[in-house]
Amino acid sequence: MSAASTVSGAGPGASLAAALAAAPGDRIVYDLAGIKGRLDALRRELPGVEVRFAMKACPLDEVLTALARRGAGADAASPGEVEQALRAGMPAGRVHYGNTVKSDRNIAEAYRLGVRTFATDSLQDVTALARHAPGARVFCRVATGGAGAVWGLSNKFGCPPGDAVRVLAAARDAGLVPAGLSVHVGSQQMTGEAWHGAVEDLGDVLRALGRRGIRVDHVNLGGGLPALGYHDRRGARLDPPLDKIFAVIREGMDDLRRIHGGPLDFVVEPGRHLVADHGAIRAHVTRLAERRAANGERQHWLYLSCGKFNGLYEMDALQYPLVFPGHDPDGPHVPAVVAGPTCDSDDAYSHEAGLVRVPAALASGDPVWVLSCGAYATSYTTLGFNGFAPLPHAFADRPEGAVADD
Ligand SMILES: Cc1ncc(COP(=O)(O)O)c(C=O)c1O
Repeated sequence: MSAASTVSGAGPGASLAAALAAAPGDRIVYDLAGIKGRLDALRRELPGVEVRFAMKACPLDEVLTALARRGAGADAASPGEVEQALRAGMPAGRVHYGNTVKSDRNIAEAYRLGVRTFATDSLQDVTALARHAPGARVFCRVATGGAGAVWGLSNKFGCPPGDAVRVLAAARDAGLVPAGLSVHVGSQQMTGEAWHGAVEDLGDVLRALGRRGIRVDHVNLGGGLPALGYHDRRGARLDPPLDKIFAVIREGMDDLRRIHGGPLDFVVEPGRHLVADHGAIRAHVTRLAERRAANGERQHWLYLSCGKFNGLYEMDALQYPLVFPGHDPDGPHVPAVVAGPTCDSDDAYSHEAGLVRVPAALASGDPVWVLSCGAYATSYTTLGFNGFAPLPHAFADRPEGAVADD
């Protein structure tokens, strides 16, 4: 890497940095080796746990194929995702329908494609599953509060522990297989306590199911495992206690196996943990401008060529580290609000929260690297809001245009 000003301290890996430096224009670059390495590391931490990638976090064929070849499956949320996972080489037996929200037609289509395991959280959904996916395995999502997560995911999904028992009993009565329980402790979960609380609830449900003669065969501990490279809205490095989180999960699995008293498999559905830190955007400076705010204060704004609508959808909730190649990290800097290129005021880092130190000499066209933005970047991109096209994607370990060979 040439002289570069970075606000993070932690840079991209060598092959990602080389690809960003060589990129002839704006693009999002993924490091497939890094993603595979993160999967391997996760398996070392949670041995024997089946990994089903939450494909919404990065639905690129190359990523899915790389994970499929390493034995990972998919958490799919629609028939479209099921089809893509199968096309990428994931066998139907390793793909479950993890979305509790689905129409009759969605269910029938996924069943036709070979999916036999479905998430649920309501009696209405169970009735529809019995009709359109007869005999399928169902797992009931138990609601969590979402405390400790950047995105709590607390209201739309899941039912209270007592209702989970009723839902699985209804599934059994309707000829379905009451196969499991699931939780999602909230995305970018920053505490081990969240998994501890979820395990306590799951334990209660397992005991209650046992009293009703229902024995599930697996527990799905969901997503929520954090990315490591983000900064919070104020610009402070987010430092998730990953070792502790894994220790709590391992302990929790032991507890649940003890409570269950029989064979119990575990599944996780990581999304951002696998891909966020192994994707980065090569963008460019649209303009570094200085304007007077309503209160009379002078304020710098750094407008980038990418933003909320083409790669940085989550930019209002966190900050991605930025690198400014060719600018001296020790040269003059100014505090700036970072924003995207569109004519929309949501397209910005949260400027009430924290300004970013950027080189004072930035000029229109200068390259900028946006790090740790590999999760929910391609999937949340608009079709071309305000005429700003979705970013093309490339792979660090592969010449652009090359065919996948791993
Ligand atoms: C059911 C389910 N599983 C897994 C995930 C992935 O979450 P994360 O990216 O926090 O790992 C999500 C994300 O919304 C989800 O809805």
